[in-house]
Amino acid sequence: MKHFLELASWSSAEIHHLLKLAVHLKFEWQSGGNRPVLQRKILGMIFQKPSLRTRVSFEVAMKHLGGDAIMLGPQEIGLGQRESIADVARVLSSYVQGIMARVFDQAHVEELAQYSRVPVINGLSDAFHPCQAMADMLTIYENFGRLEGLKLAYVGDGNNVAASLLEAAAHFGMAFAIATPEGYELPEATRQHTAGLIQRSGIPVMMTTHPQQAVEQAHVIYTDTWVSMGQEKEAADRRPLFQPYQVNAALLRHARADHVVMHCLPAHRGEEITDDVADGRHSVIFQQAENRLHAQKAILVHLLA
Ligand code: CP
Ligand code: NVA
Repeated sequence: MKHFLELASWSSAEIHHLLKLAVHLKFEWQSGGNRPVLQRKILGMIFQKPSLRTRVSFEVAMKHLGGDAIMLGPQEIGLGQRESIADVARVLSSYVQGIMARVFDQAHVEELAQYSRVPVINGLSDAFHPCQAMADMLTIYENFGRLEGLKLAYVGDGNNVAASLLEAAAHFGMAFAIATPEGYELPEATRQHTAGLIQRSGIPVMMTTHPQQAVEQAHVIYTDTWVSMGQEKEAADRRPLFQPYQVNAALLRHARADHVVMHCLPAHRGEEITDDVADGRHSVIFQQAENRLHAQKAILVHLLA
C-alpha cells in the first residue's frame, strides 16, 4: 500500500502526476465543484501539534470530494502514550479509509503506516512537511508556468519545510540553495535520505551560511520560522543567530527582479520575514496557503479514490 510520508521514496513521474492532478482538481473546483470521488470515505486526522492550514484544508478537501474527516487532537488519543502507535494504527484503520498525522518524530508516522491497513499521509513531522512542498510547487508553477530550470533559495532554519522543499525541487528539476546559520543546516539524516534522489535529478544544490549568496539569481525566496513547534525552549538562543537570515527588502535586492517570496506560515513578522516583504507585491504566501487545499486533494484522490 502507498503512503505519503516524504517525497524521496516516490518516483518523479508520480510526483509530476500529483501536481497535474492538483492543477486539474483546482480548475474543477473553481468551475462549479469537484466530483464526489471520495464518497463514503473518511479521513482520520491525528494532531500532536497545533495547526490551522493543515487541519482545515484536509477536512475541507475531504468534504469537497464527497467524503468527510474526523479530527483527533493531542488530548484525545494519546498516540504512543495511552495506547501504542501500532494499536492506534490497527484500530483507527479499521474505521477510516485514510489517516493523516502530524507528529513530532518521523518514526511515529512511519510506524503508523507500518501497522495501518489504509494509506497514511504525513501532515508534518520534525523531519518533513511533504504536503506543504506539493502546495508550494503548485504555487511556483502557477507563477512561472514551469518548474524545471528555476532556482529556489531557502533562507533560515534547515528544518522540516526545507527538507521537503529540497526533495520537491529535485523531483521537478529546480536548482536549490539553502542558507542557514552554522549548526542549523539540514540534518545529516536528511542529506543521506535525499542523496540518491538529488544525484538522479542532477540538480545543483548549494548549502551555505551566506543568505546573499543563496538568493543570487533566485526565482523563489522561501523562509520559515526560526523556532519550529517543539523547539520553543530554544527560542531565546536561536533569535540572535538567525537575525542575519531575515528575509527583508535588502536581501531581496540580490534576487531576480521577477522573484516571488514564499512562507509556509504561520509567519513571525519582524523575525524571519518583514511586514513589507510578507505583504509586498512579490509575496505569494496566501496563494500558497490556499493551494494546500488543492494540492492535498490530489494526494487524497491518488491514495484513497
Ligand atoms: N503551513 C502549515 O502547515 O500550517 P499549519 O501549521 O497551520 O497547519
Ligand atoms: N517548521 C515549522 C512549520 C510549521 C508549518 C514547524 O515545524 O513548526
